[in-house]
Amino acid sequence: MEPVKIKLNPIIDFGKMPIANAFLTKEQFKDEFFYDMVLGYDPATHAIGLVNTVPPEHMFHDHYAFFSGTSRAMQRHFRETAEKLLPYAGKGMVVEIGSNDGIMLEAWKELGVRAIGVEPSANVADVSKSRGHEVIAKFMTPEVADEILSRGKVSLVFGANVSCHIEGFREYLECITRLIGREGAFVFEDPYFMDIAEKTSYDQIYDEHVWYFTLSFINAVLDPLGFHVFDCEHIETHGGELRMYVGHKDTHPVKPVVGEWLAKETDIPGKLELLKTNIIKSKIVLLEILNRLKKEGKRVCGFGATSKGVIVTNYCGIGPELIPFITDTTPVKQGKYYPGVHTPIVPQEEFKNVDYAFLFAWNHFKEIDASQDRFRKAGGRWITHVPTPRII
Ligand code: TMP
Repeated sequence: MEPVKIKLNPIIDFGKMPIANAFLTKEQFKDEFFYDMVLGYDPATHAIGLVNTVPPEHMFHDHYAFFSGTSRAMQRHFRETAEKLLPYAGKGMVVEIGSNDGIMLEAWKELGVRAIGVEPSANVADVSKSRGHEVIAKFMTPEVADEILSRGKVSLVFGANVSCHIEGFREYLECITRLIGREGAFVFEDPYFMDIAEKTSYDQIYDEHVWYFTLSFINAVLDPLGFHVFDCEHIETHGGELRMYVGHKDTHPVKPVVGEWLAKETDIPGKLELLKTNIIKSKIVLLEILNRLKKEGKRVCGFGATSKGVIVTNYCGIGPELIPFITDTTPVKQGKYYPGVHTPIVPQEEFKNVDYAFLFAWNHFKEIDASQDRFRKAGGRWITHVPTPRII
């Protein structure tokens, strides 16, 4: 069968956006890179993705600021995921695409499973190498697949929040299906488009996320390769993701749950149109709230300098005049400025004397709320924009 061809028609235009993970020093303001962020749709394959993609070297560089291991909730998530996927690890190796700082490689090690990481951002790859993990610091290519296969048989390929980053997605799936062969499985989890549409969580849309997955799209790409999604489950890690299990059609029969989720994916174009309208409404209401608080003289800050928050602040035009600073626990982000809007980022120790905190890390709300007793007891309130802008 012919491999699929994807052609995206522009649907939602967000205007100029900076690179969401490129935290800046003042000296870097003048050279900041912006691109037109436009979400597109291909009716033939149901692909939803960025019409203008950013060259990977602008995003995954040697000062990449996202370290998975900095969040305790993420450590727990990866440990639980490794335990759950253990039956798929079989007798072969596990390959983790986008192994970041080795948070999950560590979990596999503890479980006694040989795991190889593939991680193109050299600085985060170095962190996991220094912890003794086997890491190939490159993008996934046919050559890298060969290199892995020369080291042994692969039972499981896993990728969390990485597959949606890969512009050459069909070629990427070709590499992975070669790695797993007829027996192995590929399990991946990424933001699920139906969640974005339902929650108006448009802040999931940023430079690194080239694709917004549906089962319909993944199956369209896999079908000509002889593979399909045979299982799936919904997870809440990053505010609504679908974990999909891919295997060869002859060896992995489809579980009924896949059909149940597929049934929710009717009328994707209608959902995109609704999302477009809801994003505009969300911006208007959020700005009303923040402008009102400013008029009342309230002290507002941002909580968690996330990539998602970069989209909200830049799309809505929320600079330091509305949110004077953002707190974050990640040392490499502290002392830097938020992309595009140039809001200063300060350590979480400076999270005090604040009336309202905007949850840029809204997906970690439970963990955050539980750790910020003092803030709430002092009368502090959270602001969120998901699913609609409001004060909690
Ligand atoms: P993520 O949503 O992409 O996982 O990013 C979480 C970001 O939020 C990361 O920069 C760390 C930051 N953060 C805090 O500053 N305080 C917190 O309590 C939590 C949970 C996250």
